Amino acid sequence: MKNITILGATGSIGTSTLAVIDLHPNSFKVFAISANKSWQQMLKLCIKYQPEYAVMANENAASKLQKALTNDTKILSGAKSLNYIAAHKKTDYVMAAIVGVAGIHSVLMAAESGKRIMLANKESLILAGNILLESIIKNNSQLIPVDSEHCAIMQCIQNSKSKLQKVQLTASGGPFLNTPISKLKSVSIKDACNHPNWSMGHKISIDSATMINKGLEVIEAHYLFNLKPEQIEVVIHPKSIIHSLVYYKDGSVLSQLSNPDMRCAISYSMAYPNRIKSGVKTLDLIKHSPLEFYKPDYKKFPCLELAFESLKQGVSAIGAINAANEIAVAAFMQGKIKFLDIAKVIEKTLASTKRAELNNLASVIANNETARQVASLIIKQCSYN
Ligand SMILES: NC(=O)c1ccc[n+]([C@@H]2O[C@H](COP(=O)([O-])OP(=O)(O)OC[C@H]3O[C@@H](n4cnc5c(N)ncnc54)[C@H](OP(=O)(O)O)[C@@H]3O)[C@@H](O)[C@H]2O)c1
Repeated sequence: MKNITILGATGSIGTSTLAVIDLHPNSFKVFAISANKSWQQMLKLCIKYQPEYAVMANENAASKLQKALTNDTKILSGAKSLNYIAAHKKTDYVMAAIVGVAGIHSVLMAAESGKRIMLANKESLILAGNILLESIIKNNSQLIPVDSEHCAIMQCIQNSKSKLQKVQLTASGGPFLNTPISKLKSVSIKDACNHPNWSMGHKISIDSATMINKGLEVIEAHYLFNLKPEQIEVVIHPKSIIHSLVYYKDGSVLSQLSNPDMRCAISYSMAYPNRIKSGVKTLDLIKHSPLEFYKPDYKKFPCLELAFESLKQGVSAIGAINAANEIAVAAFMQGKIKFLDIAKVIEKTLASTKRAELNNLASVIANNETARQVASLIIKQCSYN
């Protein structure tokens, strides 16, 4: 029996993780769960799974949960409690599914404590890739990517990483693949969140619509598989059936296919090196035929190019674009800027921040804070509306 701590249990990945656990009650136990403010949803989860700990990052939400709950689950609050459950000696596996930079500390704590990290929170790898990977090696932890593209690559390279030529990350192109640029000016939050294939949280849905999500995944692939930027390509594959391709020097190309459902990658991260039932339907290739592939339109999706550019500029530039994106997406969600302004804010933040080596977590966090401030100022100064 493996004890699982789910950081971000109320989110899209958290919910899918619980659905896979439900299929294997004799193999996995929900040891601890966390959320930010969704205390009512957490209440339901505490009643159903009886975890030992439930952490609300938000203090106010924690006291509401505490008042409502009558079982033995211990309620903790604040960001430090996330670290506590991630590093707890009874935790075997950590599902890292907090959205954004808020997830970084707990992932590093899980790494330091020798856990298996099932990594959905790509931000921790993007911002602190070298620090995280060093800690994983030093502490004998395991890192299994949950992003479907990286999970696919991991599956493909199980037998051989030698003579790997390049990888291709597939991208659906999001909800605006076929929308002309002229119409993107006026798209709504609802339009941007309306992903054709995947059901995801708001932030990653908007990131998919701007395609910065794919750019962040390029950076993720660079760290995870030690690839140079020129070894990573993006190909548009609207149906999201093929989840990435690995090209070898002998001309062979390996890939992993499945219906677009995160339970596939989640179950792999839980069962690795084995496989377990995930609840995902068997793929019907005839039904999805034809599978199509296109070059990405970098003019329409400038965020993709900005991500490649930041990878070339180094770790402080990567931190800057990620921070600017988080600020810009929040501003878009609040109706303060338009969809196309997201890329402009990222570009201006990248140009207005300094490049530096970031060798420890404190410098990574400081760089993130500076870039957030710069991005906020850019939004204030340029009246985009
Ligand atoms: N969804 C997908 O299909 C998918 C695929 C690949 C990778 N990912 C990555 O997985 C991560 C989670 O994505 P998601 O779509 O599951 O997000 P989501 O649905 O928005 O859920 C986010 C979770 O994080 C919690 N949270 C939010 N802010 C927090 C904070 N400041 N401190 C602590 N917890 C906080 C939320 O709690 P509340 O409910 O209280 O807000 C919720 O449990 C992201 O990094 C995303 O890029 C997602």
